[in-house]
Amino acid sequence: MKQYKIALIKGDGIGPEIIDEAVKVLDAVASCCDMEFSYQEALMGGCAYDITGDPLPQETIQIALSSDAVLFGAIGGEKWDNLPREKRPESGLLRFRKELGVYANLRPAVVYDELINASSLKPEVVKGVDLMVVRELIGGIYFGEPKGRDENKGWNTMVYTRPEIVRIAHTAFKIAMERDKKVCSIDKANVLDVSQLWREVVEEVAKEYPEVKLSHMYVDNAAMQLIRDPKQFDVMLTGNIFGDILSDEASMLSGSIGLLPSASVGAKIGVYEPIHGSAPDIAGQGIANPIATISSASMMLRYALGEIAAADKIDAAIKRALSEGYRTQDLAQYDAKEVCSTSEMGSIIANYVAKCKH
Ligand code: IPM
Ligand code: MG
Repeated sequence: MKQYKIALIKGDGIGPEIIDEAVKVLDAVASCCDMEFSYQEALMGGCAYDITGDPLPQETIQIALSSDAVLFGAIGGEKWDNLPREKRPESGLLRFRKELGVYANLRPAVVYDELINASSLKPEVVKGVDLMVVRELIGGIYFGEPKGRDENKGWNTMVYTRPEIVRIAHTAFKIAMERDKKVCSIDKANVLDVSQLWREVVEEVAKEYPEVKLSHMYVDNAAMQLIRDPKQFDVMLTGNIFGDILSDEASMLSGSIGLLPSASVGAKIGVYEPIHGSAPDIAGQGIANPIATISSASMMLRYALGEIAAADKIDAAIKRALSEGYRTQDLAQYDAKEVCSTSEMGSIIANYVAKCKH
């Protein structure tokens, strides 16, 4: 029997509730796919600050690095918004990504047919959307120097080096080879020097993937095209901040940000997390949608552990729950047969996983 060590970082707000549901589903898949998970919890975010004075305790990094993968909930909340920047939960997350070297953030946006009416866009615009944002995660303006502020000025710097662009471009092209073989690289090369280099380097890397069709788009146009005709995209390759913005936008194609998972990968360990935040306003009420996290657990099985059949089972169970009309609050108005709580949704999906034949 295969055994996997999973680090669980529940975090703040709805983080603990949604991770608990993903664990329920993982345990269901373990018992029918002949594997076993052992979980170790680690602190990060506001809860870590409250207990240790640091949003990212050293122990958390060690636990993560000694695991096969990290399953992550969400961090942050108003309570910690006024702390000095380096004590804020978000700083902990950025440091964590950097320490783990997870330079590639994969954010798929898929529209489930069952939820075709949930999008704020017309059904014919979103039906069949299946795209992947490949976002560079540990460089760009989030990390560039110099940065700082005084009373009258604040400044950050968008920097990318050639090797940073090369490695994320390879990730995007490799993913495209497994998909529809199209990469659209997003930049602002009409204004930014850093984007000119980005474009040049992506062109060079593209030569190694002659089967993949490469196009370039300015980020402002991409924001518009994403809602005008999202089906034109297969893989969208972006820098850090452009990908942050465009992936939130892309999530709305699917109808709820509570549906979308992500994987952050690099040379070492991968981090699997929903793209949404900690939603402190709804925490503890049992109304959060756990599907993004359950779907992140599926990405973890697929990408980190190579357990493709198990991942397929989870994906099928999510689809089945939606097609049978189960909906959490966020999607209650869209063809719901039954509105369920966070934990009911987790149990329904876990139950479908357990019933699903090999
Ligand atoms: C995300 C989040 C983070 C980011 C924040 C919380 C630092 O928005 O993962 O998209 O900007 O990367
Ligand atoms: Mg974001």
